[in-house]
Amino acid sequence: MLEDADFRLTKIPLNNGAGHMPALGFGTLIPDPSTTISATKDAVIAGFRQFDCAERYRNEREVAQGLQAGLAIAAIERKDIFLATKLWNTNHRPERVEPAFEASRERLQVDYLDLYLSHTPFAFQPGDEQDPHDQDGNVIYDRGITLLDTWRAMENLADRGKCRAIGLSDIGLEELQPLYEAARIKPAVIQVESHPYLPETELLEFCKARGIVLLAFAPLGHGIRPGPIEDPVILAVAKRVGKTPAQVMLAWAVQRGTALLTTPKSKAHAQENFEISRLPQDAFDEINGIQTRERYNTVVKTGSPGFIPRGR
Ligand SMILES: NC(=O)c1ccc[n+]([C@@H]2O[C@H](COP(=O)([O-])OP(=O)(O)OC[C@H]3O[C@@H](n4cnc5c(N)ncnc54)[C@H](OP(=O)(O)O)[C@@H]3O)[C@@H](O)[C@H]2O)c1
Repeated sequence: MLEDADFRLTKIPLNNGAGHMPALGFGTLIPDPSTTISATKDAVIAGFRQFDCAERYRNEREVAQGLQAGLAIAAIERKDIFLATKLWNTNHRPERVEPAFEASRERLQVDYLDLYLSHTPFAFQPGDEQDPHDQDGNVIYDRGITLLDTWRAMENLADRGKCRAIGLSDIGLEELQPLYEAARIKPAVIQVESHPYLPETELLEFCKARGIVLLAFAPLGHGIRPGPIEDPVILAVAKRVGKTPAQVMLAWAVQRGTALLTTPKSKAHAQENFEISRLPQDAFDEINGIQTRERYNTVVKTGSPGFIPRGR
């Protein structure tokens, strides 16, 4: 039992000396405001200590409410959780980065963020419209701004202690490598889609060699069926080890050295997703051997968010 508790509380060191990040994380991409509050509270009570937010999710105020309620019930403090949020594409111009950060920080009602990520490498036309489109429905990009321009502004935030670590999301190796080389402050965390159908092994190896945490979103394949949560290997391992398919997939993610973000919306799923146990080596190897490949979120290609429709 002690081993299970240790496994659930796995922490990964950050490459900037700013401490550790809990591997098991809760994501707040939840459209409904009251569900955002209840699910966030339930996640704290279940044991989650790492939380991912975004200005684009338009619910940072509700997340703050859920966190405050959860912290009170769990009798823990702000410093006991690891809190991250993300800069949206319309705020990539350097002069917009700090105001966007401050607005998120105020909505989240905290003095500091543990981690600030650029949500995607794509700069959109700056302004209040989060999804600027032209008359033909095409995204309007801000072509004059490079990711490095935005990164420099994020480095300045980190210098002043406003966020303890900075990182990137929805980025591939091709863009990450040059940014990493040019960065004065190296990215501490990379958040990308990852699950047994999208293991991102090459990216994970690059990150591990540099002490960058790979933070896997959609570790359950976003719950899409058919999908990895119904894969025959996952179902067989779950039966053999006496765990649910979701618990097996989350354990695999932690065991391969990634952090993760899962989004259970019910109390029962929150408890289930926290109560993971280390997998036997043969089960871990079998999941590594799955050959099916599928990406469920296309944000990485255009900067526009969105999972592919269910039941495709
Ligand atoms: N950087 C980016 O561009 C980006 C993009 C997408 C997501 N994210 C982040 O990643 C987080 C997680 O992504 P995700 O929502 O795809 O996570 P996920 O945990 O893979 O999928 C969530 C789905 O799985 C279901 N589920 C959860 N626990 C379950 C269980 N024990 N058994 C069966 N089904 C279960 C949920 O259903 P219930 O509602 O019934 O619990 C929900 O439909 C987001 O909230 C967000 O923070 C980031």
